[in-house]
Amino acid sequence: MADTRRLLELLRVRHPVVQAPMAGAQDQELAIAVGEAGGLGSLPCALLTPSDVRRMVGQFRQATRAPLNLNFFCHSAPAPDATADAEFRALLAPYYRELGVDARAPGSAPERQPFNREHCGLVEELRPEVVSFHFGLPTPELLRRVRATGATIMASATTVAEARKLTAAGCDVIIAQGAEAGGHRSMFLTSDVAGQVGTFALVPQVVDAVNVPVLAAGGVGDARGVVAALALGASGVQVGTAYLFCIESRISALYRRALTMAHDDETRITNVFTGRPARALRNRLVDELGPLNAAVPAFPLAANSLAPLRAHAERAGLADFSPLWAGQAAALPGQRSARELTLLLARAAGTA
Ligand SMILES: Cc1cc2nc3c(=O)[nH]c(=O)nc-3n(C[C@H](O)[C@H](O)[C@H](O)COP(=O)(O)O)c2cc1C
Repeated sequence: MADTRRLLELLRVRHPVVQAPMAGAQDQELAIAVGEAGGLGSLPCALLTPSDVRRMVGQFRQATRAPLNLNFFCHSAPAPDATADAEFRALLAPYYRELGVDARAPGSAPERQPFNREHCGLVEELRPEVVSFHFGLPTPELLRRVRATGATIMASATTVAEARKLTAAGCDVIIAQGAEAGGHRSMFLTSDVAGQVGTFALVPQVVDAVNVPVLAAGGVGDARGVVAALALGASGVQVGTAYLFCIESRISALYRRALTMAHDDETRITNVFTGRPARALRNRLVDELGPLNAAVPAFPLAANSLAPLRAHAERAGLADFSPLWAGQAAALPGQRSARELTLLLARAAGTA
């Protein structure tokens, strides 16, 4: 059953609209604008150093009294694997040759650390009102420490079984992430991409299976998506791709241009960029090596071998090797400010 009032209490916001945390695509400015408009602003911490997180949270707190969601990844960090790395480099060798990039150049993708003691210390220090997790949950001990801060805990589920597991572990809100969603699939109990469930089917089944508020994520591109999500029993929405179009997002001109030209059928769930399935706009790498390729090293190691190619191509104005994360509704939203988008979605939810 939709329980929007309970969701608003848990998130301490006026509108049941959560700006999805989008690692690499935003900073505190997007979160501030959404928070000021009465939605929940999120700060993705997966690619940030602790000092970056401190700085951004400090700026957020200076700018607004709105609550804040800090978001972390919970993958298991793989051991460095020289053989897998060499195999992937061999697969990429033709591109290195074509672009004239030194194939032995060390990779320089930002680190993606799973939620650890240091992150937990940050949560205890910075006291975000909400903490959300992607790819499952941290260890019970770390989760207990997060809970002890008083934060509302949210996590993404891509199946009913994942939603059940998250609620059994004590999550206060479930983010039902349908297959339409942009960015990484949060899948943590399954690796079967073909079995991933669309938002329209996932949301009501998760709502029936758990007794906490559910946010619908994936494919909500405008007011109609909010109305549909609430009709399916969701208490609110978590929206990513539509917020990428806002002036407050931090994406390259190349990425922005690709997004504005996107059609409904131009995204793929692919593992070629990071080693984990994620929905992105098709580009040369996805078309030629993907969308799914068994030779790609485990998340997040793949990004290292791609980093020199990506940087070289971007300097030449090409997004051939760049992950252009986007959901299937990328053609719907169009450009607006984050405030306007939040209020548009809130009006559809009947809270503005
Ligand atoms: C550019 C981009 C980056 C993302 N990064 C994260 C992230 O760091 N953490 C997270 O929990 N979800 C991340 N997601 C997934 C969102 O939380 C959400 O599931 C998704 O955006 C919803 O689908 P939509 O894009 O169709 O609105 C990302 C999505 C996008 C588009």
